[in-house]
Amino acid sequence: MRLFSNVRVYERVGGLYDATLGFWSREVRRQAADTLDLREDERLLIVGVGTGMELEHLPAWVRGAGVDLSAGMLERANRRRTALGMRDLDLRVMDARALDFPDGGFEAVYLPLVLTVVEDGARVLAEAARVTAPGGRLVIADRFWPEGRPRPAAVRAVSRALGHVAMRFDIRLSEILAGAPSLEVEDHRRVVPRAFFHLVTLRKPDPSKPDPSKPG
Ligand SMILES: C[S@@+](CC[C@H](N)C(=O)[O-])C[C@H]1O[C@@H](n2cnc3c(N)ncnc32)[C@H](O)[C@@H]1O
Repeated sequence: MRLFSNVRVYERVGGLYDATLGFWSREVRRQAADTLDLREDERLLIVGVGTGMELEHLPAWVRGAGVDLSAGMLERANRRRTALGMRDLDLRVMDARALDFPDGGFEAVYLPLVLTVVEDGARVLAEAARVTAPGGRLVIADRFWPEGRPRPAAVRAVSRALGHVAMRFDIRLSEILAGAPSLEVEDHRRVVPRAFFHLVTLRKPDPSKPDPSKPG
């Protein structure tokens, strides 16, 4: 349990957030949008949409929803959405740990820089998996701690402290994936600057389709 909510920090720093993180994270947002590869008949959910910096990389006809716990961040996202003419993207204040959407409602789910910000990233991924349609994809853009590298106590303590005001940097991707073990990792690559960001593509299995890797 956090003593102090980083959402209150995000609430106050929307403009500064865009100015500092915007340029730094531009390439991973561009590649994430390419990876999503949306079709016009699909619905997209953006979890932790923040100020909506990812919107400019998506098609104006995008359909679906973007959610965030901070009304202040969403206010900026709303201005971006209007400027981009995205009439079919609904923006809502919502806790990603308990999404108010039915099972399987979205063919694509995008999690940009949110899983290491929320208090329980594994639970947020589980929720994201629940609302993904069978056969649908989830695209994560984030920064994870390397799997094999030890995490000294001092590193963990600093990361925990940073988690109260911004995001943690000591979380492993495997710890997040543990929240939704049925998801398949289709791709995991590192993105500039200096391979700082991770771009991960996951697939929710579709039980109605036979698995071509298993003999029938
Ligand atoms: C680092 S920002 C990323 C924003 C945006 N996706 C981007 O890439 O610029 C993290 C966002 O997660 C939101 N957030 C934190 N906890 C959340 C929760 N439990 N549910 C929904 N959003 C949450 C914060 O309000 C903030 O806007």
